[in-house]
Amino acid sequence: MRLTCTINGEAREVDGLWEGESLLHVLRERLGLPGAKNACEQGECGSCSVYLDDTLVCSCLVLAGQAEGREITTVEGLAGVGELNKVQEAFLAAGAVQCGFCTPGLIVATDDLLRRNPDPTDAEIREALAGNLCRCTGYEKILDAVRAAAR
Ligand code: FES
Ligand code: FES
Repeated sequence: MRLTCTINGEAREVDGLWEGESLLHVLRERLGLPGAKNACEQGECGSCSVYLDDTLVCSCLVLAGQAEGREITTVEGLAGVGELNKVQEAFLAAGAVQCGFCTPGLIVATDDLLRRNPDPTDAEIREALAGNLCRCTGYEKILDAVRAAAR
């Protein structure tokens, strides 16, 4: 099977996919984009979050074939090469990163939240990020980072 799509603004074509292959597998194992993480592969942790067109998805739950002709944005595509966007800067400044495994998914999910709602309440932040699990930080510094990015 062949997949033709746009990833982080660049036209990409991948050959030899098997029918049940996930978008996450294609990104990480075939295209060398390790930003989206593979933690559960069951849609439970949010570490594999990417945009499919403008919709936040768990890429482990998206079949590669569903991405045909569509636009995918991963954490690597949120800012220019060597640059950080405001969400990434805020996570760094707030110390919201420990092992970092959850961080790319949280950053894409926060980016999505702030696009839809630039001034979220704490309850709205918690609801928007409820699908992104972090085993290290206790979430307080993540909340600080999202508040700072919103400001
Ligand atoms: S790896 Fe996709 S939700 Fe956990
Ligand atoms: S920083 Fe380790 S899982 Fe979140």
